[in-house]
Amino acid sequence: MNGQPRNIQVVAFCCRFCAYSAADLAGGARLEYPASVKIVEMPCTGRANVLEVLHAFEKGADGVAVAGCLPGTCHFIKGNDHAAQRMDHVTELLKKIGLEEQRARMINISAAMGEQFTTEMTAFVESVKHLGPSPLHAGANSSRHHETPDPELSHDCG
Ligand code: FES
Repeated sequence: MNGQPRNIQVVAFCCRFCAYSAADLAGGARLEYPASVKIVEMPCTGRANVLEVLHAFEKGADGVAVAGCLPGTCHFIKGNDHAAQRMDHVTELLKKIGLEEQRARMINISAAMGEQFTTEMTAFVESVKHLGPSPLHAGANSSRHHETPDPELSHDCG
């Protein structure tokens, strides 16, 4: 329908040892989080590089979260630290191209924090909704409204 904003899309790159397991736990407990969150499983958030995050924005994401293990608990020692540094770089790049830095967020969570996962994702989606659709896709409202999300946004990187 013309004139209506398209649905917000959020991509969450989730470490399989923590955030992805927390999402599983939430699902098992029937805890809900917004359906607009497309989870991409990763072996570690250390694998999430800047280009991959920017590519998600380019392909239609309005917000991108990278969700890794709690500080000091990464199975690859420093993967979540590297991811946090890269997300700082992403937010700087977003500002330079005129996007709000709040569209990118690093989240640290353990596998046992299913409820926290839903809380974090819901808060992030609400924050992105408040910003509105990404201006990168402002002209795509009418043509994209009924499309399913780009399959590349929810591929399995593991
Ligand atoms: Fe989870 Fe590295 S193994 S962030």
